[in-house]
Amino acid sequence: MSETPILTRRGFLKVSGSGGVAAAAALIPIASVHAQPAEPTATGVSLPYPEKSIGAAKQLTVEAPLQFTYPDEGSPCVAVKLGRPTPGGVGPERDVVAYSTLCTHMGCPTVFDGKTKTFKCPCHFSEFDAERAGQMICGQATENLPRILLRYDTGTDAIAAVGVEGLIYGRQANVL
Ligand code: FES
Repeated sequence: MSETPILTRRGFLKVSGSGGVAAAAALIPIASVHAQPAEPTATGVSLPYPEKSIGAAKQLTVEAPLQFTYPDEGSPCVAVKLGRPTPGGVGPERDVVAYSTLCTHMGCPTVFDGKTKTFKCPCHFSEFDAERAGQMICGQATENLPRILLRYDTGTDAIAAVGVEGLIYGRQANVL
């Protein structure tokens, strides 16, 4: 006649404890998979951008930024002539750059200040450097101002927007 094994309190804790650890270990990989941040491609950078003419380089002056929208009508942007060659700049002097005007903090429209060559947000005072790819200088924002990639045609003097570097505020992808 066989006896039924008696499970002592210590034995129960040992068994249930190791089982709990095993169960937790089994859950960790699943939880970490779901906690992965979105891939950069989720921002839409791999989607095709339209090419949009924004005007002639000779139209632009240091005092007069050029407003336009890109990649669609819901995305306000501005092209500025900085008056000195700038990394990423186009045009005869390689000094024309463009940015989304929507602040990366909460989407307020930023204003270009020609004296400091910065975009300033009136809502919470973030500032972005137009000469350094829209780099955030100070304020509440944590991301740089999205830069509009430009192409310059030396034959026709035309400037076209051809892409966006960075995610436009309020979007999961730049091209919707
Ligand atoms: S919306 Fe621009 S700093 Fe807050």
